[in-house]
Amino acid sequence: MKFTYPNLQDIYNKILNDSELPYNQLKNKYFSKKTGIITLALSKISELPKEEKIEYGKQVNMLKIYVQEQLENKLKEKNTYSVKQRIDPTAPFDVNTQPQRRPHIFEEKGSKHPLTAEIEKLVKIFQNMGFDVLESRQIDDDYHMFESLNFPKGHPARDMYDTFWTEDGYVLPAHTSTMQNRAMKKFGPPPISVIMPGRCFRNEATDASHEHTFYQMEGIYIDKGISVADMKGTIKTFLETYLETQLDVRIQPSFFPFTEPDCEFVISCPFCSKAGCSVCAYSGWIEIMGCGMIHPNVLKEGGIDPEIYSGFAWGFGVDRLTMIKLGINDVRLLRESNLNFLRQF
Ligand code: DAH
Repeated sequence: MKFTYPNLQDIYNKILNDSELPYNQLKNKYFSKKTGIITLALSKISELPKEEKIEYGKQVNMLKIYVQEQLENKLKEKNTYSVKQRIDPTAPFDVNTQPQRRPHIFEEKGSKHPLTAEIEKLVKIFQNMGFDVLESRQIDDDYHMFESLNFPKGHPARDMYDTFWTEDGYVLPAHTSTMQNRAMKKFGPPPISVIMPGRCFRNEATDASHEHTFYQMEGIYIDKGISVADMKGTIKTFLETYLETQLDVRIQPSFFPFTEPDCEFVISCPFCSKAGCSVCAYSGWIEIMGCGMIHPNVLKEGGIDPEIYSGFAWGFGVDRLTMIKLGINDVRLLRESNLNFLRQF
């Protein structure tokens, strides 16, 4: 393109240099109402003498058309470009898919593990009944695991609590009873009412009802004149609150070195009301926890005079109670971290 007016030739050269500018900038630079280079060049027509108006007008018009073409091309480019880059806003799965079957990436909502949620409920119930809470240790010693609980060295009952020991003689507690002595010393003198939830370990061959790692919740209640009737009433009230149903209860003999008498707390099956079902192994009853009146030696070891005070204790498996409450039939599921299982709660 050749121009006889030097200012128009300058503009043309400028346009060639500006060919890389994006659409909006190019449009602004050349066509904006007040300062656009073409706009200004066009406005010059009116200032020219008549003879020149036609020739100048022709040439400036050529320029105008040239820049317009450039702009149109850019606009086309821009549109094709944005079509290629368009993001598909639709879900990459059938929108009728049930929420739990959708790709995991869309499920950012976390939730409490069922055991955590149940422990919190259990603790709440006991707190409402006036109990303090003391979490148990995950590494303990021979004194708290056995000695303080009336298992002398070499006592055969120690074999009932086969667990893991460190090379320097510490123990991964096989039950939360390890905390009884600490609770008596910390909360004494009586009245004392404390629950002691915590993690326990056993040297188990695992199956649907046995795990090497599990939770227990221990409890002690010590005061003047406490009897088996208090024990029965307290544990029954707690279980009826947690399982949200009325229960028949009974206690039957058992053996623990740290209680006298030693009992097994048994409840009517909350699912079949003693008719017999798979949860209660068709017996109508479920043995739910060990309990008993705290042995005088254990009270003495905790700094409490058994001539003045008496008390009861219990310990139950949180995993087992959770399984009953939530209808879970394999204890191992509670430790597997399988999202398909956990998402149900
Ligand atoms: N520690 C016992 C166990 O794990 C359960 C138990 C029984 C706890 C009787 C108690 C109790 O406090 O009084 O087998």
